[in-house]
Amino acid sequence: MFDIPFLDLPPMDGASGTVRLPGSKSISNRVLLLAGLSAGTTVVRDLLDSDDTRVMLAGLRQLGGTIEAEGDGSVRVTGLGGRLQVQEAALFLGNAGTAMRPLAAALAVLAATQGGRFELAGVQRMHERPIGDLVDALRQLGCNIDYLGTEGYPPLRLSGQPGGRLTTAAPIRVRGDVSSQFLTALLLALPLVSQDGPITVEVEGELISKPYVEITLNLLRRFGITVAQDGWSRFTIPQASAYCTPGEIHVEGDASSASYFVALGAIAAHGGRVIRIEGVGADSIQGDIRFVEAAQAMGAQVQAGAGWLEVRRGEWPLRAITLDCNHIPDAAMTLAVMALYAHGTTRLSNIASWRVKETDRIAAMAAELRKVGATVVEGGDFIEVQPPARWQAAAIHTYDDHRMAMCLSLASFSGLAGAEVPVPQRILDPRCVGKTFPDYFEALFHLGQAAPHRIPVITIDGPTASGKGTLASAVAHRLGYHTLDSGSLYRVTALAAIRHGVQGDDVLRLPALARSLQLRFQGERLLLDGVDITDELRLEEVGSMASRIAALPEVRLALNDLQLSFRRLPGLVADGRDMGTVIFPDARLKVFLTASAAMRAERRHKQLIQKGISTKLADLRADLEMRDERDRNRTVAPLKPAEDAVLLDNSALTIEQSVDEVLKWWQQRNPF
Ligand code: DC
Repeated sequence: MFDIPFLDLPPMDGASGTVRLPGSKSISNRVLLLAGLSAGTTVVRDLLDSDDTRVMLAGLRQLGGTIEAEGDGSVRVTGLGGRLQVQEAALFLGNAGTAMRPLAAALAVLAATQGGRFELAGVQRMHERPIGDLVDALRQLGCNIDYLGTEGYPPLRLSGQPGGRLTTAAPIRVRGDVSSQFLTALLLALPLVSQDGPITVEVEGELISKPYVEITLNLLRRFGITVAQDGWSRFTIPQASAYCTPGEIHVEGDASSASYFVALGAIAAHGGRVIRIEGVGADSIQGDIRFVEAAQAMGAQVQAGAGWLEVRRGEWPLRAITLDCNHIPDAAMTLAVMALYAHGTTRLSNIASWRVKETDRIAAMAAELRKVGATVVEGGDFIEVQPPARWQAAAIHTYDDHRMAMCLSLASFSGLAGAEVPVPQRILDPRCVGKTFPDYFEALFHLGQAAPHRIPVITIDGPTASGKGTLASAVAHRLGYHTLDSGSLYRVTALAAIRHGVQGDDVLRLPALARSLQLRFQGERLLLDGVDITDELRLEEVGSMASRIAALPEVRLALNDLQLSFRRLPGLVADGRDMGTVIFPDARLKVFLTASAAMRAERRHKQLIQKGISTKLADLRADLEMRDERDRNRTVAPLKPAEDAVLLDNSALTIEQSVDEVLKWWQQRNPF
C-alpha cells in the first residue's frame, strides 16, 4: 500500500495481464456479522483485508467473538450465538457504513432484550452520514437509542435492561430511498428477536440499490434464514429464525473493484492485449457485476465465466451513454471516468445516493473530472461528462474516498485519447484505497504499460559513502518509486566472481557472469541464486573487487540492460556513479551528491563500529580517497556530475534535510 501524501501516475498507453481481486467488502462485512451472531465456528475464506473489514473484526472481538487468522488468509470466527458476552463496549467503526448500520441494529435489539450499553462512533465523515431512518425503525420496536452528537447521525448509544421486550408484532417501517443499508441492517439483526413470532419490515418509498439487498437475502439464506419477500416492499423474517453457520464460506472478489479493471481493459487493452480479472465472474451474487453490461454498452468486449472476466478494448473511442445507474451506484462512478474517453456526452442519472457516501461523490467527481479538462454538469441526482478538449495534469483530491482514488487513476491514459502531449496525474492521499483495495495501485502498475521515456527517473550519483543509498531510498519511499542501487549490481558481480574464482581482469568471464546473475529482490534484501547475500555485499573484499571490475567497459556494458529494467511504473530513483551521465541520460532530475572525504570517512567509521567492526579512521579515509581517484579517473563512465545535475553537498545536512531538498527540486520539475 502507498502510505504517502501523493502518488504521481505517469501517462500510460496500454494494459494487459491478470489481476486477482480482493474479497467483496459488502459480502465480507455481512458474512462477518452473520458469523459473529451465529453459534459455532465459521471459516471465512478469501475475506477482504481492508480498513472496513478491520473495524468490523475489531468490533466483533470487543463484543466477545473469537477471531483467529488461519495461515492461508482465511479467518475463523466463533460467534456469540445470539447471546451478549459483554454488556458494555465502545466501538470505533471508522468510515465503514457496512459495519455501522448492521452493528447498530444488532446491538440495539440485543441491548433492548438482554441489557447493555453500547456506543458506536466513527471518523468525522461517518458522523455526517445519515442513520436517522434506521434509528426511527428500531425505535418502533422499542429500542432505546440516543444520538451522542447531531440528531440523525452517529455517534449513537444503544441501551436497555435485561428482560426487556420489543414490539415485533406490527410491521416495522423503514425508508428505502436514502440508503438500502438501513433495510439490510434490519434484515440482518431482526432474526435475533424473532422468538415470539414472525417480524415484517415494510419499505417506505422506492427502495434504492436493490442488488445490495439481494446480497443480504442471499447470505441470510446461507446462514439458515429464508426471508419471505413480497416484491421490494415487504420482507418477513420467520418466527424463531436462528443463525446457523454454514461451517465454511467463501467470499467472492469485489465486483465494484472489478469495475476499474473492466474499464482499464475497455480503455487500454488494445492491439491484442487482454485484461483477465479473477475472483468475480458470471456467477457473482453482487449487483455491481451488472457494471459489465454498462461497460459493454460503452464499447468494452467482455467474456465471462464462473469467477473470471476477460476484457478487451472494443469500440474506440468509447461510446457515450445515457444510463439510469440506480442498480449499480458504486460502480457507476467508474462510468463517469470512462466518459473521458467517449465520443460525446455521457449522462448518469438516478445517483442521488452518491451524495451520502464516503463523500458527496457527485460534487467530488464533477470537481476532479473538470480538473483533468472535462466539461461536467452536475445535478441533484445526475452527472453529465463531456471528454476534455485539452487534457490537463491535475493534483486530484480523493476526499478520503477509495473510489475517487481508484476511478481517477484511470484518467492517466490521455495519450490514448489523442492528447498531443500525454499528461501525468497526481493522486492525493492514495492510502484511502485501503478501505477496500489496499494494493490497488500495485495492481494497476502491474497491468499498466508506459513508454520507458515517460516513466520518471531521479538519479543520485556521487562518490563512495556520500549517503547516496540512504538518500535514494528515502526519496523513493516518499514518492512510492522503485529504487536501483547500481553499486550493488557491481558488488554482486564481484561476489559472484570471487565465488567462481574469476579474476578481476577477466574480460571474457566477468561480463558473462554479469549477464547471467540470478537476482531476486525481497524488500531491502537481495538474493543471489536464492540465497540472501545482502550483508556479504558490504564486505571490504567485495567492495574492492567491485571497484576494480567497474573500471572494465565490458562489465559496464553487460550490466546495462539489467539497470534499464528497473525503470518501471510509477517511477525510479537510481543511485550510483553514472546514473545521470550514462544509464539514464534523460532523467528528469539528476542530483550529484558530495560530502567532504573527512565527513564520509567519519560516517563509514561510525557505521562499521555499529556493526562491531573496528577500523582506523585514517585508513578508511585513505581508502575512500583512493577509490574516488579510481572512479574519477577511469576511462569509462568516470565519476563526474552530469552537465545538468544539481549539486548537493550534504556535509552539514541531516538526511531529512537532504530529502526535503531533493523533493523540492522534484516538485519544481512537475506540473502539479
Ligand atoms: O556504491 P558502491 O560502493 O556500492 O559501489 C560499488 C562499486 O561499484 C564502487 O567501486 C563504484 C562502482 N560503481 C560504478 O562504477 N558505477 C555505478 N553506477 C555504481 C557503482
